[in-house]
Order: sequence, then C-alpha cells, then structure tokens
Amino acid sequence: MERVVDFLKKANVYYLATVEGDQPRVRPFGTAHVFEGKLYIQTGKVKPVSQQLIANPKAEICAFMDGQWLRVAGRLVEDARLEARESMLEAYPSLKAMYAADDGNTQVFYFEDAEATFSSFTAAPEVVEF
Ligand SMILES: Cc1cc2nc3c(=O)[nH]c(=O)nc-3n(C[C@H](O)[C@H](O)[C@H](O)COP(=O)(O)O)c2cc1C
Repeated sequence: MERVVDFLKKANVYYLATVEGDQPRVRPFGTAHVFEGKLYIQTGKVKPVSQQLIANPKAEICAFMDGQWLRVAGRLVEDARLEARESMLEAYPSLKAMYAADDGNTQVFYFEDAEATFSSFTAAPEVVEF
C-alpha cells in the first residue's frame, strides 16, 4: 500500500471516477494520505463527488507518471471521526485555507477492498490488494 501512496503523491494529480446512476463522473484529485494503515482522500460534503460516494461508494482512481499508470479500484468509505479529518489537514496544511476539521463540510474517505494495478507498455501488470 505504501507503494501506491508514494506513486499518488509523486504523480501529484490523480483522477477519481465515481458513479452517478448509470453515468461515470471523473475529476482531478490530489489528496492521498495514510491514516491508521488505510489510504484516505479528502473532499467537501458540498461537492457532487461527495454525494455520489455516499450514494454508491464504488470508485476508481487513475494516475500516470514516468511511463507507468496506476489504477485503484474499490470502495471509498467515509470516516466521520474528527481525528481522521484532523490527520488529513495536518498532512495537507494548504487545505486549511479552505477547510477546517470541524467545519461541517470537510470529509475524508478511505479505500476498502481495494485492488491497485500498476501498468506500463513494457512490463506485465502488478496487482496489490489492500
Ligand atoms: C490538481 C487538482 C487536485 C485536486 N484535488 C482535490 C482533492 O483532493 N479533493 C477535492 O475535493 N477536490 C480536489 N480538486 C478539485 C476538484 O477536482 C473539483 O472540486 C471537482 O469539481 C470535484 O468534482 P465534482 O464537481 O464532481 O464534485 C482538485 C483539483 C485539481 C485541479
């Protein structure tokens, strides 16, 4: 899992796909943080992405860097604990300009039953489950 987080951090940007009814939705994301051994992302409750994840937690992210791409498919489950949100904001201090752990908007989700696949044009895919 550390390898997955390292890749996401180095890539800087990944794309998060969610489902809305029968319509896929995708957008750029950057937050990737390990808390209590799980991979967390951050968003705001006011965003459609948040509402989509609450309605259907199935999600997939994709990032590309240095000829290799990573896809992580799984379920993104909300962690409603204050300490989980605080840990995220400590890891991303720049977010504090827009978010506070107790603002009623900040929200964090962690991956459950995740399958991460590293792919390239030159090597066989490598799969990591966490
Ligand atoms: C490089 C980059 C990184 C971003 N990272 C995040 C993020 O980690 N969390 C977040 O909620 N929004 C992030 N955003 C903003 C979302 O992409 C944006 O709010 C998007 O509209 C959310 O999707 P939605 O409109 O379907 O809710 C980022 C945007 C960019 C350009």
